[in-house]
Amino acid sequence: MAVRQREEFLLNRKEIIEALKAEDFSQVYKRAKEICERTKGNVVYMRAIIEFSNVCNRGCAYCGLNKYNKKIRRYNMTEQEIIERANEAILAGYKTIVLQSGENVRIDLPKMKRIIQFITGKGVAVTLSCGELPREYYEQLRAFGADRYLLKHETSDESIYNNIHSDGSLKERVACLKTLKEIGFETGSGFMIGLPGQSIETIADDLLLLKEIGCDMAGIGPFIPHPDTPLRDHEKGSTELTKRAVAIARILLPEANLPVTTSLGVLDKKERLAAFDCGANVIMKKVTPDEYKDAYQIYPAEIPEIRVEEDRKNIVTMLEGIGKKGV
Ligand code: 5AD
Repeated sequence: MAVRQREEFLLNRKEIIEALKAEDFSQVYKRAKEICERTKGNVVYMRAIIEFSNVCNRGCAYCGLNKYNKKIRRYNMTEQEIIERANEAILAGYKTIVLQSGENVRIDLPKMKRIIQFITGKGVAVTLSCGELPREYYEQLRAFGADRYLLKHETSDESIYNNIHSDGSLKERVACLKTLKEIGFETGSGFMIGLPGQSIETIADDLLLLKEIGCDMAGIGPFIPHPDTPLRDHEKGSTELTKRAVAIARILLPEANLPVTTSLGVLDKKERLAAFDCGANVIMKKVTPDEYKDAYQIYPAEIPEIRVEEDRKNIVTMLEGIGKKGV
């Protein structure tokens, strides 16, 4: 019954485009919210993210960590520092730790193994977000016990992709996502709203690509210009379009975990909460130590002092305010 309802509602490209362009989107929001309530209840998953290194080999035109940006101090947290922070987040109650970094094929696998085993040994899940790596690396990381991996496709349009990336290709990106799935990672992709050259049609294709990959997770966020990147003068993405894309993602992927992206909250605090009414069911919280957090600016954002336990309590309270239970 539920499946039939879903199929009757908004699945093909033409309908997605029409919905994204429509003046009144309220019925789609309503549907996305209903599906989210059916598949996720009133629960919101809270994830702690440790940005353990900003060293990056890639030149992505939108990202403040791109290899051409000489203005930032590059860092690599030590094993001890990562484990200490992870432990603090676990004690505060987080059940998933996201370990994110710039892309660096010199990633230290033995060190990752010890960190992953420390975290999973406490009964807590590890999500990795470390970019494109050779298949053998992914296999090893999976064998160490990490069970989720985030790698956004960023845009499904090949020419846009090539314009904003000095390295790699969309085909390689999608191949990595398929490899991650094959290896047995819960796999997350996602994309940005507001990239140069992007149209409503591109966003429809982005959404359909999430479905084609069979994503278990998808992060959709507005582009925010960073002053030390080639896209510094490009306009920021629309928060309304971002929420619409999240709602459609929920309808296309009823069971997926869809975070409210941090960038949405950066552009507009209210929108961050509003996204939970559009089908989102995950929130990520930075727990990167203060001495590193400002060197990890993918896009410009004011980051207040981080207090792991207190911040988590505040999110739980904020979620309670909208009738959600943060776990
Ligand atoms: N604005 C918004 N999101 C960005 N990301 C990178 N740079 C920006 C930016 N300027 C997103 C990308 C990447 C994730 C870690 O952050 O989607 O995958």
